[in-house]
Amino acid sequence: DWNPGNVIAEQVERIRAQVGDARVICGLSGGVDSSVAAALVQRAVGDQLTCVFVDHGLLRAGEAEQVEKDFVAATGVQLKVVDARERFLTALAGVSDPETKRKIIGREFIRVFEDAAREVVEDAGAHGDTVKFLVQGTLYPDVVESGGGEGAANIKSHHNVGGLPDDLQFDLVEPLRTLFKDEVRAVGLELGVPEAIVWRQPFPGPGLGIRIVGEVTAGRLETLRAADAIAREELTRAGLDREIWQCPVVLLGDVRSVGVQGDGRTYGHPIVLRPVSSEDAMTADWTRLPYDVLATISTRITNEVPEVNRVVLDVTSKPPGTIEWE
Ligand code: XMP
Repeated sequence: DWNPGNVIAEQVERIRAQVGDARVICGLSGGVDSSVAAALVQRAVGDQLTCVFVDHGLLRAGEAEQVEKDFVAATGVQLKVVDARERFLTALAGVSDPETKRKIIGREFIRVFEDAAREVVEDAGAHGDTVKFLVQGTLYPDVVESGGGEGAANIKSHHNVGGLPDDLQFDLVEPLRTLFKDEVRAVGLELGVPEAIVWRQPFPGPGLGIRIVGEVTAGRLETLRAADAIAREELTRAGLDREIWQCPVVLLGDVRSVGVQGDGRTYGHPIVLRPVSSEDAMTADWTRLPYDVLATISTRITNEVPEVNRVVLDVTSKPPGTIEWE
């Protein structure tokens, strides 16, 4: 019989056998997979594991805290946080093209992670230890897919931690390789990973950087974060989180329209709601959200986020539209 307790017991054995007394490193993204993989490895080898969290400043409201505070409190992992927010903003300054943004974010991410990994390796070396292993939250469908050749995945350049330089070669520890997403969630809950992480909907690696159409600036990130937090709060309140695959909230940074708010005329930006229903993100349909939920989200965003004076709903399936706008 499949149950999370058995999976944990079995993986703990395997991880211990693979790793021995070497040190292990893991990059945390705030998502389900890397978090559950890290929690499993922590359960198996405790403080032999060091997690690295690169705060690129492109996460949604509360997500960095979920990793830095809640996840650490729940699992006891040793965490190295790299505050790279300024670095990413600087690298993205003046850039509007979606693929260029993705490439910059991917490149900076690898560089920052590399530097942090090197520091962990050097620290361990100072104590006579070696870091030999890197944890990856690879799931069964990823294993199958990467054997499956070309697909829609190549329409946009996805970024994951890969391609580390030669002097930073690690063996991989992949404790989720035999699991499907729902099984990973069950294992995560059993390990005490916070529910907000376990149930987090898919979120792209480049984060809010590809949910701002146009240049990414600190001000626009703040605007989008505020609008996104309201949308998420209302969808949760309406009990819709598990009905929807995900709901990107997008700021049209280069579009303005006239509105009337408070004391007068405004010339603000639109926010797009992109709720989708899907099985695997390869195809998707737009979710028919209840009108009253849409109304509440719209009213709250335009009342509470001064830079936004219009909320629009994306009613496009995939194909032809991708889920994300960039
Ligand atoms: P699209 O926009 O291609 O998105 O229909 C399909 C799914 O993939 C997510 N997505 C990404 N995930 N890195 C990721 O880890 C990325 O660069 C990336 N781009 C898109 C998207 O949120 C959706 O779930």
